[in-house]
Amino acid sequence: MRLLIALALATMACQASRAQEMSYGQAEYLNSCAVCHGVDGKGDGPLRDLLIKRPADLTHLSERNGGTFPYSRVFATIDGRYAIPSHGDREMPVWGRQFLEDDAKTYGPSGGEVVTTERIHNLTGYIETLQH
Ligand code: HEC
Repeated sequence: MRLLIALALATMACQASRAQEMSYGQAEYLNSCAVCHGVDGKGDGPLRDLLIKRPADLTHLSERNGGTFPYSRVFATIDGRYAIPSHGDREMPVWGRQFLEDDAKTYGPSGGEVVTTERIHNLTGYIETLQH
């Protein structure tokens, strides 16, 4: 499974690096999230069929929350480190941990945490722009 994700991510990273003038949030999304959630966020990425749960459609989060984008919930879901497992195993990677592993190598533990938090903010902000 990890290998499949790595392969799919590598393919999409190449596609992503060809596109110009992207926000950090969008680039990060295409690199890390689109394999499951789809390029448009509708939950139809190529890894979808390998998962038990269907990746969430990320384009109707505001609509399903009474018209307000649930920013802190989305942030906490992406981070994943402080989420309370509600129903069974989470299939989505715990991004806060994965990002921090990389970022701490470059920026040290506390600097890494700042960068990781910023990356999750960029992603959350990008998902906000996908709302219909
Ligand atoms: C391996 C597949 C996979 C990848 C990669 C993935 N997700 Fe998910 N995601 C899921 C699944 C499956 C769910 C459904 C909930 C669950 O797992 O319990 C989900 C749920 C979510 C939710 C919750 C939506 C809601 O209804 O509140 C958000 C937000 C989200 N993902 C964002 C992201 C972001 C941002 C990334 C990239 C950093 C990402 N996901 C990468 C599989 C994935």
